[in-house]
Amino acid sequence: MAVLIDGKAISSEIKEELKQEVAELKAQGITPCLAVILVGDDSASAIYVRNKKRACEYIGIESRSYELPKETTEQELEKLVRELNEDETVDGILVQLPLPEQIDEEKITGMISPKKDVDGFLPESIGALCIGSEGFRSCTPAGVLELIKRSGYTIEGKECVVVGRSNHVGKPMALLLLEQNGTVTIVHSRTKNLSEITRRADILVVAVGNPKLIQADDVKEGAVVIDVGMNRDENGKLCGDVDFEHVKEKAEAITPVPGGVGPMTIAMLMNNCVEAARKKRRE
Ligand code: GUN
Repeated sequence: MAVLIDGKAISSEIKEELKQEVAELKAQGITPCLAVILVGDDSASAIYVRNKKRACEYIGIESRSYELPKETTEQELEKLVRELNEDETVDGILVQLPLPEQIDEEKITGMISPKKDVDGFLPESIGALCIGSEGFRSCTPAGVLELIKRSGYTIEGKECVVVGRSNHVGKPMALLLLEQNGTVTIVHSRTKNLSEITRRADILVVAVGNPKLIQADDVKEGAVVIDVGMNRDENGKLCGDVDFEHVKEKAEAITPVPGGVGPMTIAMLMNNCVEAARKKRRE
């Protein structure tokens, strides 16, 4: 039976560290500030935004909320992002996705200043990760890395397999593991013999959005399995991309869903906000 990697506990640990760091920054007259933009009334987005604002409050980061109606035009949103880019008191800008269909998501997120890209979604941020230079790392993959490291596992020289090649998770995840000197393979929907490759993994990260895609037969005995998926099963119960009940009998360590990767995304967003404020002070 695998060790359970407790994302809730590890994210709490990170939030405590950040709280301490923010207290020190405040003593020097610096209060990190995150601008959060929510357009429309998508209920899942509203919950995510609420949780992000709560985390800010807990850590001592100021959160400035911009809740706009679903009819908001692209021009109106562009104007707001431009103003927030210019605003010296704002350290990070988060535009909650998805945006309503009349708004070009790539155009809006692409306008955020790289200095304030706390989501780590900009081409500049991904490019910086690719060449190993300074820049914001995408929150979910950065959270996965922290889970692995803080659970005592090393990445250097390990066979790392990432299932999924999305711009926000799979691709940056592979780059982060590579930066840690892992031997990295990405598999995806067109991969032949997927199971043959996932079975080689010492570290297996799954991020596809396909309920219980990864079964016990797809996993090597003793692997560390990180499940980024968040789906509903046939009974409406939350489940990941990994068949947890069976894979846990084979893995050395595994993340549950919920309570694994999920809480880490917000913790790493908070980390990026604090980092943005710290960087500004160094300029
Ligand atoms: N929508 C779902 N997850 C995210 C996220 O991590 N960042 C943003 N900006 N939008 C999201």
